Amino acid sequence: MLNKLGDIKSNAQHEIQEADGLSVLESIRVKYLGKKGSLTEILRSMGSCPPQERPALGMQVNKVRALLEEQLTRKQEELSAKMLELRLKSERIDVTVPVEAPHVGSLHPITAVRNELISVFMSMGFDVAEGPEVETDYYNFEALNIPQDHPSRDMQDSFYITENLLLRTQTSAMQIRTMEKQKPPIRIICPGRVFRADEVDATHSPVFHQLEGLVVDKGITMCDLKGTLDAFAKKIYGSDTKTKLRPSFFPFTEPSVEVDVTCSECGGKGCRMCKDTGWVEILGAGMVNPKVLSGCGIDPNVYSGFAFGLGIDRIAVTRYKISDMRLLFENDLRFLEQFKSAL
Ligand code: DAH
Repeated sequence: MLNKLGDIKSNAQHEIQEADGLSVLESIRVKYLGKKGSLTEILRSMGSCPPQERPALGMQVNKVRALLEEQLTRKQEELSAKMLELRLKSERIDVTVPVEAPHVGSLHPITAVRNELISVFMSMGFDVAEGPEVETDYYNFEALNIPQDHPSRDMQDSFYITENLLLRTQTSAMQIRTMEKQKPPIRIICPGRVFRADEVDATHSPVFHQLEGLVVDKGITMCDLKGTLDAFAKKIYGSDTKTKLRPSFFPFTEPSVEVDVTCSECGGKGCRMCKDTGWVEILGAGMVNPKVLSGCGIDPNVYSGFAFGLGIDRIAVTRYKISDMRLLFENDLRFLEQFKSAL
């Protein structure tokens, strides 16, 4: 019996030593220490031993059991640690590996320029007003001193929806809506889309963007107009920029001017962009016609104002040296992705 116990002990120890997984270890435990295990069997068969040998044998069996239990536990800990280490190694994440950058879009050049213009004017105390793109003939023309059959309507070929409804041809319509709603002092800009039945070419599009400005208060003069637009031009084109006013005509302003700035490309020396003149026209402006003021219920003997309108697309085209205006509206990603830095 003692020999048998010795064999069990050395076999079990050998198997424990060689075990290479937790399940193998568990089957060894069952094989030797389980209910039907070989050690348990020896205990059961002790009845066939002479009574005087039983206590000594019992002690030996218990000793072997304790030893194997201890070795099983140690081996289990060893195997668990080894498996954990393997897992840690195989699941290791190298946080220093460069990641693939997510695809980030960018602002459209027109949006970028519009945002910049808005922030320049807001810093000068202007509010932003927005109005409808489908406009009535009254707001788009009539109230701006452009009566039916007036030749100046020819300058703006329009998309009519009904006889009295059209896609607005100019953001100037918002001057009237604002003055009807709000009493002076008024200081607003209105950026937005406008529409004209123009042929598409490198410098024309039936859809483009304007930014309208309107200031009405007591004692507003041409000096305020010049000072405001000069400050604006310096912020957009650089502090060396000079502005020049040229006489012009708009039915809703009197007097009317066209504002030129020194060419940002050549600094005023003359180049291809400014057609060798050193100047580039950027907007139309003027003192609000008293007829327009009184039409909106504002007394022109008490109040005066100035207004201006500029083309956002034109600023984007010169700012980014875009050779063809059509590029702005074709949504070609190869073009649009060049403006990431405009964000
Ligand atoms: N609405 C004019 C246009 O589309 C631009 C303009 C000129 C707006 C003079 C104004 C202004 O407010 O005073 O050509």
